[in-house]
Amino acid sequence: MCLNISIPVLLLWGFKKGQMNDCCSNSRKNTFLAGFFLSLIILTFSWSYSSAQDAAAVDASDSTATASEDAAAAGGDDGSGIPSSPEAIAEGESIFNNNCTVCHAINQQVVGPALAGVEGRWDDLGTLVAFIKNSQKVIEGGNEYAVNLYNEYNKTLMPAFSDYTDEQILNILGYIKAEASAPAQAAETADGGGEGGGQVAGGGGGIPSGYLTAIIIGLIVVLVLILLVLVLIISVLTRFLNQKQDLDDADREIINQKVDVQKVVKSRPFIGLMLFVFLAITVKLVLDGLFSVGVQQGYQPKQPIAFSHALHAGQYEIECQYCHTGVMKAKSANIPSANICMNCHQQVKTESPEIQKIYAAIDFDPDTQTYGNNKKPIEWVRIHNLPDLAYFNHAQHVNVGGLDCQNCHGEIQEMEVVYQASELTMGWCINCHRETQVNAKDNAYYDKLLELHNTENPKEPMKVEDIGGLECSKCHY
Ligand code: HEC
Ligand code: HEC
Ligand code: HEC
Ligand code: HEC
Ligand code: HEC
Ligand code: HEC
Repeated sequence: MCLNISIPVLLLWGFKKGQMNDCCSNSRKNTFLAGFFLSLIILTFSWSYSSAQDAAAVDASDSTATASEDAAAAGGDDGSGIPSSPEAIAEGESIFNNNCTVCHAINQQVVGPALAGVEGRWDDLGTLVAFIKNSQKVIEGGNEYAVNLYNEYNKTLMPAFSDYTDEQILNILGYIKAEASAPAQAAETADGGGEGGGQVAGGGGGIPSGYLTAIIIGLIVVLVLILLVLVLIISVLTRFLNQKQDLDDADREIINQKVDVQKVVKSRPFIGLMLFVFLAITVKLVLDGLFSVGVQQGYQPKQPIAFSHALHAGQYEIECQYCHTGVMKAKSANIPSANICMNCHQQVKTESPEIQKIYAAIDFDPDTQTYGNNKKPIEWVRIHNLPDLAYFNHAQHVNVGGLDCQNCHGEIQEMEVVYQASELTMGWCINCHRETQVNAKDNAYYDKLLELHNTENPKEPMKVEDIGGLECSKCHY
């Protein structure tokens, strides 16, 4: 680190300055002292900075390690007709994650019942499989257990999955069984993470701030102790030298001189240095300030309802489009209206005060299941907001360009409260257009362009800038 080089240099500078001014030894000692303390301060900062970085790095690698460990799920073979081979379980897991997690968890009631031990609740496996393939058929057939369950869950329809074969449904049950019998902790992680990686970055996102302060405070304490010891040594030495007889007056004067704080403060190098530091800080602050005018990166307002993307989009893996309905076909992604929430929350967590806020907004009475007519919209606080002079279209980027939401919005599925992850400046748009290849695969609209581009410029892939992504009028009205 470059800061560390400056320490010996500063010390040397303090020393040399002192030697040249031999006539007035007072200022020699002062400059040396100033250099010494400055180095100590710089040392403190560079040390704490690098150790904090190390700490963060260790933290991040730590959490990655734990997350990748629990990929395997245990399963026993007991001849119950439910498959337990790893391949079957893997297929079951994939079907389950894609179709069922919206409403089901293994060990927890969601929209539908917790599925752990479900095979034991049904009289025979055949009916259970038939129920999963088409629950309404079994209910209409009058199976007592199914009818009771249906009524218990307020006649919520479970969609039919008749496209899957019996074997595939059995694989799902194999997965459910394996998950339910796996150790509790593994089940939890697999539930939440889906692919097992969902919750990784949450822990390693930034330097834990408590850590940093603790390190700095610790260092300050150590430095103060060192200072005390040094002062002690000086006073002991002074006393010792004063007791010696064979000193002449000049030596005695040097020994007994006091550190003159006023002189240090008034000395030229010190004033120059302070001026330089002051100027450097001011210039940096002013520049940073100018560049960040109108930039809201990191903006994280408190929302009226404690809606969590980490829970809905992360743990329960609800598709973004399920709520942000416009994102594939329109300019705006849309914020969901309350009736989308009600698809689930008419049943889920009805007693929670946060959910009651949804009911209040749409004037819904959960006891009588009726709506009044005193509706008012939920006042979500807008986070991402381009100025009116700029035009941005979601469908162009997500649908045509094939970009993931995370490219621009960060790891939304891990955020308890959404914040603005990117700068949203013009430079940010332009940079990406310079770097990103146009996604021309299976898009006949681009065939001619691609051909033309490849004959004119065969080495470079076609970037967004090559199709006009840097033209002012594309982004400005
Ligand atoms: C839209 C929500 C929804 C989805 C999606 C869903 N289920 Fe269900 N499931 C329910 C509800 C609600 C019930 C309770 C019975 C009822 O109301 O029909 C249920 C009941 C069940 C039961 C019986 C539970 C018991 O305690 O006996 C099983 C097994 C089941 N679902 C499996 C699945 C599987 C496997 C999938 C994915 C392929 C799936 N479900 C997808 C809502 C859903
Ligand atoms: C269950 C519904 C739901 C799902 C699923 C969902 N969101 Fe949201 N999203 C919301 C609601 C409600 C808000 C407004 C409140 C807030 O900011 O938390 C929101 C806000 C946002 C915002 C901030 C909008 C602004 O004000 O600028 C972004 C960005 C976003 N969602 C992206 C995503 C992405 C990406 C996904 C998929 C990984 C996703 N959402 C999944 C409901 C949902
Ligand atoms: C597809 C189903 C689904 C949709 C749609 C949905 N949620 Fe949820 N929500 C859930 C599930 C499941 C839970 C977790 C319940 C639990 O912890 O037992 C939950 C939990 C919550 C909680 C936490 C409640 C608490 O006290 O723990 C809030 C708040 C919430 N949802 C708000 C919303 C809002 C606002 C919307 C609409 C933008 C919405 N949800 C849409 C399924 C859904
Ligand atoms: C290329 C970057 C980019 C991608 C990819 C992207 N967004 Fe956005 N998103 C933005 C910008 C920029 C805004 C601000 C738009 C504005 O103010 O007009 C925004 C705004 C939003 C909003 C606030 C409401 C709105 O439409 O203004 C939501 C919600 C949202 N995005 C969700 C999503 C979801 C969900 C996805 C993925 C399916 C996604 N975004 C993909 C850049 C992106
Ligand atoms: C993550 C990369 C990325 C970012 C960030 C991004 N874009 Fe794009 N943009 C693309 C891609 C890829 C395409 C090409 C989509 C296609 O195939 O048509 C595109 C296309 C466009 C187009 C259409 C260009 C044309 O000639 O058809 C406009 C307009 C546009 N972007 C505006 C913006 C604005 C405004 C912003 C900033 C708020 C922005 N983009 C940020 C990747 C990005
Ligand atoms: C890829 C999209 C894109 C292209 C191409 C683009 N801009 Fe921008 N421009 C933006 C966005 C987005 C903003 C708003 C940024 C912000 O709020 O920080 C902006 C802001 C500006 C502003 C600042 C306005 C203000 O009030 O701060 C000016 C001026 C501007 N653009 C001029 C141009 C000119 C001239 C060109 C053509 C050479 C151009 N832009 C091309 C996206 C683009």
